[in-house]
Amino acid sequence: MQNKLYIKDKKLKTSILIKKNYTLKFIENITKKNEKVFCIIDSKVKINLNLDKKKNIKIIYIKCGEKVKTHEGYRDLSEKLIKNNVNRRSAIIAIGGGTLGDLAGFVASTLLRGLNFFLIPTTLLSQVDSSIGGKNGINTVYGKNLLGTFYQPKEVLIDISVLDSLPKREIRSGYAEIIKHALIKDNLFFNWLETNAVKLLRLNKSTLEKAIYKSIMIKLFYVKKDEKENLLNNNSRAMLNFGHTIGHAIESHYNYKKFNHGEAISIGMITEAKISNYLGLLSSNELGKIITHFKKHRLKIFDSILYDKKLIKRLTKDKKNFQNYINFSLIDKIGSATFYTKLDKKKVFKVLKSL
Ligand SMILES: NC(=O)c1ccc[n+]([C@@H]2O[C@H](COP(=O)([O-])OP(=O)(O)OC[C@H]3O[C@@H](n4cnc5c(N)ncnc54)[C@H](O)[C@@H]3O)[C@@H](O)[C@H]2O)c1
Ligand SMILES: [Zn+2]
Repeated sequence: MQNKLYIKDKKLKTSILIKKNYTLKFIENITKKNEKVFCIIDSKVKINLNLDKKKNIKIIYIKCGEKVKTHEGYRDLSEKLIKNNVNRRSAIIAIGGGTLGDLAGFVASTLLRGLNFFLIPTTLLSQVDSSIGGKNGINTVYGKNLLGTFYQPKEVLIDISVLDSLPKREIRSGYAEIIKHALIKDNLFFNWLETNAVKLLRLNKSTLEKAIYKSIMIKLFYVKKDEKENLLNNNSRAMLNFGHTIGHAIESHYNYKKFNHGEAISIGMITEAKISNYLGLLSSNELGKIITHFKKHRLKIFDSILYDKKLIKRLTKDKKNFQNYINFSLIDKIGSATFYTKLDKKKVFKVLKSL
């Protein structure tokens, strides 16, 4: 793997750079091209950027986590920017995990009807998933990500050196999205992960870079086919939601406290793989292979809320649904996702109870 990778997408008007120890230089380049630069930084990110002395940079630290993706989080950040004289020639750089990226992206897309936006994702999850594709948003009491826009960042920098300070639990959370990409699109990638997961979870640099690159390419495949998630076929961007219909419902049921995102979607992926098996789509042999991999690498596979009727109520709030039916992105084999529409909610409950 080269130590620098550059992916430029003309259609989406975005570019992604994978380059180690490059964060400071990346920010400096942005300061040269914009009148004022606002760096919104997750306060847990341990990088000494020595930026305070630069006069066209304003740094705003935010304590991150799911709790910032709220109406209050949106109001606080947007008002702070307005107070500090943000204008149309300003740029916003979000330096943090998926929660900061989702919040800052929503602010950047709506403040003054849209500002230059850059992302430096600092968790594995945000490097392989949330920083790619231009979705942003905040949560409401009725469910996750219900307020948001599609807004592509001008550039994304993936600098894996920032991952050294990330807790193991968060590494595993990001790994869950990597497996998701393999399960929906690339069975050889899944086989490769079976061999390389231990090295990856220990942050072996070349293994990590390869997995990040592979994940980004799979995500981009769907984003380019269906940026605004309008398709209702197997090329739909909704395929990336495998594990998320159940996962989002679990996260919001526990008010984002019991599980982090990757843990909730791990339970979601195993449950949706079981639903795929129940519907005759996924073979029991492949289901077993997936469960074995999850158990081996200590990814979550079950929670008792799956037996609770309240979960079904939450499932019906998912953005993919119409009328009384629940739509799932399921898998018919490892490496192949399929859009399953119109699953009656009573039937879903029956499946969950039988797990
Ligand atoms: N927009 C999208 O397309 C998309 C896709 C997938 C997930 N998401 C969203 O992403 C969010 C999850 O993102 P996440 O897993 O990055 O969570 P997060 O932003 O909450 O980060 C996890 C934890 O790690 C800390 N942290 C961040 N960088 C660190 C670093 N370098 N060192 C030490 N600690 C660090 C954070 O403060 C936080 O406590 C969810 O809200 C999910 O809905 C969005
Ligand atoms: Zn996700």
